[in-house]
Amino acid sequence: MHWYLTLLAIGLFSFASELHSRGRRAKRDLPANGFSGIWSSYLYSVLNCFHAKSAIQDACLRFKGRLFTFSLLGQWVVLARERGHVRDLCNAPEDVLSMELAAEELLQLRHIVGPLFTDELYHIPAIRTKLNLNLGDILPHLLEEMYAAFEDIVDTQIGDKGWSSITVYPTVCRVVCRVTSRVFVGKTLCRNEEYCKLASRFTDDVLVAGPILKFLIPSSLRSSIGKLYKMTFGHHKRMQAFLGPLIEDRQQKLRQNSKFTLPNDMLTWLMETAPSTTDQHYTESISMRMLNVNFVAMHTTTKTFTHALYYLASQRQYLPVLRDEVEQHLDSSDFTTWTKEALAHCVKLDSFFKETLRLNGLGATWMPRLTVSDFKFSDGTHIPKGYFVATAASVIHEDNTIYNTAQEFDGLRFSVMRKIVAETEEWDWRHKMTSTSEAYVAFGGGRHICPGRFFCLHGNEVFTSVYHPAL
Ligand code: HEM
Repeated sequence: MHWYLTLLAIGLFSFASELHSRGRRAKRDLPANGFSGIWSSYLYSVLNCFHAKSAIQDACLRFKGRLFTFSLLGQWVVLARERGHVRDLCNAPEDVLSMELAAEELLQLRHIVGPLFTDELYHIPAIRTKLNLNLGDILPHLLEEMYAAFEDIVDTQIGDKGWSSITVYPTVCRVVCRVTSRVFVGKTLCRNEEYCKLASRFTDDVLVAGPILKFLIPSSLRSSIGKLYKMTFGHHKRMQAFLGPLIEDRQQKLRQNSKFTLPNDMLTWLMETAPSTTDQHYTESISMRMLNVNFVAMHTTTKTFTHALYYLASQRQYLPVLRDEVEQHLDSSDFTTWTKEALAHCVKLDSFFKETLRLNGLGATWMPRLTVSDFKFSDGTHIPKGYFVATAASVIHEDNTIYNTAQEFDGLRFSVMRKIVAETEEWDWRHKMTSTSEAYVAFGGGRHICPGRFFCLHGNEVFTSVYHPAL
């Protein structure tokens, strides 16, 4: 009985000291919303999770133009909302404001997935150069897989009522996973149910487990719990089991014939970009990069497309407008007309997705950074080492001084803005979905701006264009 009480006392003590050390961050000299005491701020940070968007909006109104601290799930975050502050955040170098360390810490990636997940990052240049340069070439594969996935996954049996119902999110998730995986690992593996389960669930597993580990478990226990988690879920091992034979097969074909052309997919681009190393590490490393690519690509694309579908379903006036545009530029009986250039003419579709992301981004706060050394905003505000900084994204995107009737969905908003700009300027790039600014941070900004946004746009546009007859 005594040992039991002693363990309980140690547990309570370490929990209390953990909360105390986290709460101490409240003592920053910036204004804070809600309670800012050591213990009360911690409780308040839990409540904030249930209404983060409105709580941040209230804080922005209260601290007009100033930086402020906001408590979210046990963590104090300095939030930037003014253009100048957002610009400072984008321009800061990685060794001062680190996105990599912020993600690693907030999601406990080292413990949940493994150190290799954050130590090697060559998937970023692979996406930035190889994927983006090959967007035109992969289009026929995207199209083929869209049709095949639609046949296999979407129930097209129209009932007596003249329509059929589907559960949108899981259906979109499966289709996005199939189509994206076609570009990442090729035709055979993208149609493997087990592989798709791994690829599509990985992000959700990490996004749930990471914050729980950070919020509930004292730092001294995280490593052991992380090991248990990895043993149970084994994402990396499972990915190696899928990719190992494929990598081996491609390497062997190259050994037999050095002129052998490898398939034009992410696996090949990663193989070409990976630093030379031992055979075993090569497979381990590429499998981890593939997990990382899935992590950034699947959830984001699925979420955006799901929201776009909801808007289409609830505001049906957009259907004929988008349908006409698609039919004007893309001929569904002749896929040779489906080119990058033809898709670029679909400005209304582009606007529709941009608007969807404006109102439904990845969260109320965005672009998290951890101060690796002391950081000074251009207005002189000083943030010491060890603090989280982020943008109040939803407040920026719903600012009436930037966007007319900012809280309302206007699917053609950006196409109209593009038209106005095009009348006076040669380039109308500013309001394209893939453009970012301090007023539109859906894809982040600065050094870490999302390199996959062109692929994401392509995927979403092809998706809508292929499925428009069914909508
Ligand atoms: C609608 C879909 C997507 C959204 C909303 C989105 C959004 C973002 C955001 C907000 C960031 C962080 C930027 C920052 O903190 O400054 C980011 C980073 C990143 N995204 Fe995306 N993304 C999407 C799709 C994709 C896709 C499809 C890929 C890959 C094919 C991808 C690859 C990446 C990578 C590799 C990074 C990290 C870049 C770096 O650290 O330098 N994203 N994305």
